[in-house]
Amino acid sequence: MDKPAIEGGEPIRNEFLPFGKPTIGEEEINEMVDTLKSGWLSMGPKTIKFEEAFKEYVGADYAISCNSCTMALFLSLYSLGIKPGDEVILPTTTFASAANVIVHLGAKPVFADVTRDTYNIDPDKIEEKITDKTKAIMPMHHSGHSADMDRILEIAQKHNLSVIEDAAHGVGSEYKGKKIGSISDATCFSFYATKTMTTGEGGMITTNNEELANKLRTLRLHGISSDAWKRYSDKGSWYYEVMDAGFKANMTDMQAALGLHQLKKLDGFIETRQKNAELYTKLLSDVPGIKTPTVKDDIKHSWYIYTILIDGLKINRDEVIKALRAENIGTSVHFIPLHLQPFFQKTYGYQKGDFPNAEYVYDRMISLPFFSHMTEKDIEDACSAIKRIVNYYKA
Ligand SMILES: Cc1ncc(COP(=O)(O)O)c(C=O)c1O
Repeated sequence: MDKPAIEGGEPIRNEFLPFGKPTIGEEEINEMVDTLKSGWLSMGPKTIKFEEAFKEYVGADYAISCNSCTMALFLSLYSLGIKPGDEVILPTTTFASAANVIVHLGAKPVFADVTRDTYNIDPDKIEEKITDKTKAIMPMHHSGHSADMDRILEIAQKHNLSVIEDAAHGVGSEYKGKKIGSISDATCFSFYATKTMTTGEGGMITTNNEELANKLRTLRLHGISSDAWKRYSDKGSWYYEVMDAGFKANMTDMQAALGLHQLKKLDGFIETRQKNAELYTKLLSDVPGIKTPTVKDDIKHSWYIYTILIDGLKINRDEVIKALRAENIGTSVHFIPLHLQPFFQKTYGYQKGDFPNAEYVYDRMISLPFFSHMTEKDIEDACSAIKRIVNYYKA
C-alpha cells in the first residue's frame, strides 16, 4: 500500500505548499514606491481614491477605510450605539476579533449555531437568542459564501435590530445579485495579508447611511473633524475640532497603494479562485469521507478559502492535518468555535455541547491551500496527498 509520508513514505511534494499567500504584482510594487517617494505616507489622497473605488465596486453610497476589519467592526458597533449591557448575536464559528470587539464595548457576544452546509449562522437559531437586551445581529460570510441575508434582515426588522455584516471573507461575494457591502446597515471587510485582496493589514466599512458614514469617518481618526487628515497639506488648515472621543484606526496611503491595484484585479482573482475551487471539487468529490463545499443558489461565492469536511477515517482531523503537513501540504481550520474558547467559557458560561452543528463541523473541517496564483499542480498535489491519507487510514 502507498505509505503516507508520516508513516515513512516519500512526501507528495518536496516544497511546502502554504495554506495562503498574497498575489502581489509589479503594479502594487510601483505604486508603493511612488507613495514612498511622494512624501505622503499616512492617510491621504490614495486612501480617499481607494475608498471611492471600493464604494463603486460594491455599489454602496459610502466607504470608510480602517486599519483592520477588527476596528471596522468595533467602530460600526460603537457608531450604531452598542453600549454596556447590550447583546449582539453572532455565529460561534467565527474569528475571535468579531466577539472581542463586542466585549470591549461592554456588551455580550451571544453565540448562535451554524448550518452544517455553509458554516454560516443558522437563521433558525437566531430568534431564540433574542432578548430585550439584543441590539444587533452580526452575520459572517464564511469562506466567501454569503449568509442567508433575507432571513437575517427579516428577523432584524421584526425585532428592530441593527445588522452589521462581518465580510472579512466576503469581498466580491454576491447575494441574490447584490454585492456584499450594499445590503445592510454596515458591512466590514478585511484586507489582511492572506485575504482575497490585501493591503497587508486593513479594513473597510461600507454603508448607505450618510449620518453613520460621517460618524465613522470622524471616529476612525481621533474624533476630529473628518477632513483633518489634510491638515499638513497645502489644502489643509491647522485648525480642527474634536467632535467625539475617537480612535486611531485610519488606513494609510501605503496600504491604499496596494488596495487600489488589488481592487482592480479582484474580479480576476475571484475568477481564478472559482476555477481552482472547481478543480478541487472535481478531484475530491468521489473520495469517500470527504465533503466538498456547498454553494447555494442565488449566491456568488468569492472563494476566500476552500474548506472540506473529512470523516470516516481511523485517524481524527488533527492527525489528518499532521499527515498532510508531512506531505508538505499546509492547511488551516476556520474556526475553533468561540464557545469552546477559555475566555468565553469563563466569562459567559458557554460550554462544550452548546452548539452541536458548530462542533460537528469543527471536528471535521480542514481549509486546504488556496490562493489566487496557485497552479493546477499545487491543487493536484494537495488532492493526491488527501487521497493517499484517506486510502491508508480508511476505517
Ligand atoms: C471572520 C473574520 N472576522 C474578522 C476578522 C478580522 O480581520 P482583520 O485581521 O482585518 O482585523 C477576520 C480575520 O481573519 C476574520 O476571519
